[in-house]
Amino acid sequence: MTLSREHCLQLDTEDSLQTLREHFVLPAGEIYLDGNSLGARPVKALARAHEVVEQEWGNRLIRSWNEAGWWNLPVTVGDKIGQLLGAKPGEVILTDSIGVNLFKVLSAALGLRPERRVIVMEGSNFPTDNYIACGLVEQLGGAYEIKFVEEEQLAAAINEDVAVVCLTQVHYRTGRVLDMASITALTQAVGAISIWDLSHSAGALEVDLNGCNADFAVGCTYKYLNGGPGSPAFVFCAARHQGKALQPLTGWWGHAEPFAFEPDYRPAPDIRQMLCGTQSAISMAIAEVGVDIFLTTSMAAVQAKSRALTDLFIDLIDQRCSGLGFEVDSPRDATKRGSQVALSHEQGYAIMQALIARGVIGDFRAPHTLRFGFAPLYLRHTDVWDAVEILVQIMTDGAWQNASFEKRNAVT
Ligand SMILES: Cc1ncc(COP(=O)(O)O)c(C=O)c1O
Repeated sequence: MTLSREHCLQLDTEDSLQTLREHFVLPAGEIYLDGNSLGARPVKALARAHEVVEQEWGNRLIRSWNEAGWWNLPVTVGDKIGQLLGAKPGEVILTDSIGVNLFKVLSAALGLRPERRVIVMEGSNFPTDNYIACGLVEQLGGAYEIKFVEEEQLAAAINEDVAVVCLTQVHYRTGRVLDMASITALTQAVGAISIWDLSHSAGALEVDLNGCNADFAVGCTYKYLNGGPGSPAFVFCAARHQGKALQPLTGWWGHAEPFAFEPDYRPAPDIRQMLCGTQSAISMAIAEVGVDIFLTTSMAAVQAKSRALTDLFIDLIDQRCSGLGFEVDSPRDATKRGSQVALSHEQGYAIMQALIARGVIGDFRAPHTLRFGFAPLYLRHTDVWDAVEILVQIMTDGAWQNASFEKRNAVT
């Protein structure tokens, strides 16, 4: 079928999520296709930040740790995130960054399999996960071997020597989805522990952590969950491991009774043991605003729209950009794709800068990847159409060849 803007308009009128766009601030004249990196700002985030800073902090000062629920925000917001991920109350906590949380859960998971010495990871994963694992292994005296494999070699690598299989569900570059249920089952069949990085899953697709019997997971709130730049990450620890799987950053927030100020550390018997120290109340409060919007819909609806938008984008690239040098690097089967599409092009960096200059905001991952994220809560089918229209324009009028688009920024 030849696609048209009218058809996209029709799809927008039929979209069950269309009213959710009103909950976000989106600059006029721009199409924001980078919600997979930094989500858009919820309208209410500003008022909430104002309330926390002016009233809770300004007027009530230290009393707000109790009165405004600051102390419990890691758990209360964690439980809300858990609802989006198929976790039970008390299995998810909001805290720290993904990297720090990965350090914690990987340490805890290794502690559950003390007789085993192998960790399986994906070599092409977002580097921080692999850096953190290498750092931990070094810290442990190099007594572990990390097998870095790619998707096709995973099944062969998972054997009875393996302590932990630590993977990212949606690949940061291509958006490819790993089958969490079957890989977790394979992992547990050999007696190993599974850890899932849900950075590009939370708020983008239906995740069922308990349905998959996952052991541990980590993820962030600043991407699809729209929690704000640098907003806290989360940890999932299955109820069956709590009190047994202990993380080594034994700060006072993870103590069984922080305000007993005991001389020795006693681990909290529940998800709170995944905490280390004082968390930013302002950041947690703003993150909650982003998460709350998801609680007004269902992840099934979000995933369906994500697939519709990314399918539409790929179809339009096929129909309108053939011969322009683009390759689609993301899976074409929507069930195997997150909410992003990667295109590769020899001149990818300059093309992305030219797109940004014309108001289509995506990002670039060296050496050749143009990444486009499709946040289902605030993007329309017509945005997808218009973005591809602008891409066609800059390719045909040669705008991307302007020398200024070659200049590399620190953040790409
Ligand atoms: C898969 C994955 N893990 C981790 C991170 C970043 O982790 P952190 O919150 O520690 O910066 C990213 C960032 O985009 C990511 O894509």
